Amino acid sequence: MTIRSRGPRYIVQGGAVLNGTVRISGAKNHVLAAMCAALLTDEDVFLSNVPDISDVDSLGELLTSLGAEVEPLPGGRVRINAAAIHVFEAPTELMTENRASFQIMGPLVARYGLAASAPPGGDVIGQRPLDVHLGGFQAMGATVTRDGERFVARAPDGGGSLRGARVFMDYPSVSGTQNVMMAATLARGQTTIVNAATEPEVQGLGLLLNEMGARISGIGSQMLEVEGVERLHGANFQIMPDRIEAGTYAIAAAMTGGDVTIEDAPTNVMDAVFTKLRHAGAQIELNEGTVRVTRPGELRAVSFQALPYPGLATDLHAPMAALLTQAHGVSIIHERVFDNRMLYVGELRRMGAEIVSTGSSAIVSGPTPLHGATVRALDVRAGAAVLLAALVARGRTVIEEISHLQRGYERLDEKLRALGVDVERT
Ligand code: EPU
Repeated sequence: MTIRSRGPRYIVQGGAVLNGTVRISGAKNHVLAAMCAALLTDEDVFLSNVPDISDVDSLGELLTSLGAEVEPLPGGRVRINAAAIHVFEAPTELMTENRASFQIMGPLVARYGLAASAPPGGDVIGQRPLDVHLGGFQAMGATVTRDGERFVARAPDGGGSLRGARVFMDYPSVSGTQNVMMAATLARGQTTIVNAATEPEVQGLGLLLNEMGARISGIGSQMLEVEGVERLHGANFQIMPDRIEAGTYAIAAAMTGGDVTIEDAPTNVMDAVFTKLRHAGAQIELNEGTVRVTRPGELRAVSFQALPYPGLATDLHAPMAALLTQAHGVSIIHERVFDNRMLYVGELRRMGAEIVSTGSSAIVSGPTPLHGATVRALDVRAGAAVLLAALVARGRTVIEEISHLQRGYERLDEKLRALGVDVERT
């Protein structure tokens, strides 16, 4: 008999109460967009606070395949230089790795007039169309054709020939807004993006682009104005801390009834998760970028909807659901962003959770004692949910396919061990 390996696994001994301090790393969804922005200039872009996660590695590989230099520097810094781009098409095998890779399209079509790519990979969390991205390029004068699997975007007269336009986004897509915003920086004239995504990572990209010489106003609002410029220059830029990582540790602290101080948390963009955790019985003490999470009494059921920012992030839906398995009462969850973010439900049920889902909603009854089991990290956030469940489960949980977790959480097992969790990577 052949034993098939599903790659590295986490083995978690349940019954942990998290105690101590954890420092939050740079934000995945900010750094990925920032790396693509470096394609807009032939000067060096230095990024700092870059998290050591596999999505950064795979995007780095993609940029290198286009001709960019991607040089990791000590202290979590990376230098990217895109002076010698000579390939305008993303290799399909690299596109399947992560969703952010499609964000090379906007910079390439704006600067070189040509970009081609297959649809991107990433998590299997629902239909993830590209109409918002492609419609934006077309509004700016690009022709978009489909060549087999690939989308090919061409500007009317080569590099620098996109023209500013009024672009209405059918849905305030995060990466769609980032892609169109990047393309607009080098377009002729003014672009107005209506119904733009307002997620902090979109704002963070806008700030980097302005550092590079772009002229973007309305950052943080649903209406972005981009005045095109002829060229962008290099920059030295710090990636914002990851609100989803911070939220995950806050949820873990509340769930296990621990006492955790989270350092470098972007507390000013975490109102939704803090509010829901307080309703569930947690105590949240904020102090200049640091947050202390405790939970003096029992957990209470809370209902929530996962929404675009500033609503509760869809990326915290699954971790919150794990917490609610330990709360007294019935919680109702509605997922409003993606149509297949319920992959964690079956895995939590294997561990004894009373949770049912219909379509994009779930009903969680609690508290239920969870028990260890062999479960899978089916996407990065579903993986976080089973990991949190494992913390409070009786006995040992084996989590398979942890490569998904490594896409988005830096040094996860190490950080958890420092908080008192018995977790081992095998
Ligand atoms: N959508 C469209 N048309 C488009 C693009 C998107 O209708 O052209 C719809 C999608 O079908 C979906 C919704 O818009 O229902 C949200 O998708 P969006 O484009 O906003 O998401 P994304 O840009 O693909 C980013 C993050 C996700 C995060 C979402 C929402 C990156 C690399 N990924 O994805 O992060 O969940 O925004 O905040 O920035 C994660 O970190 O676990 C993760 C999946």
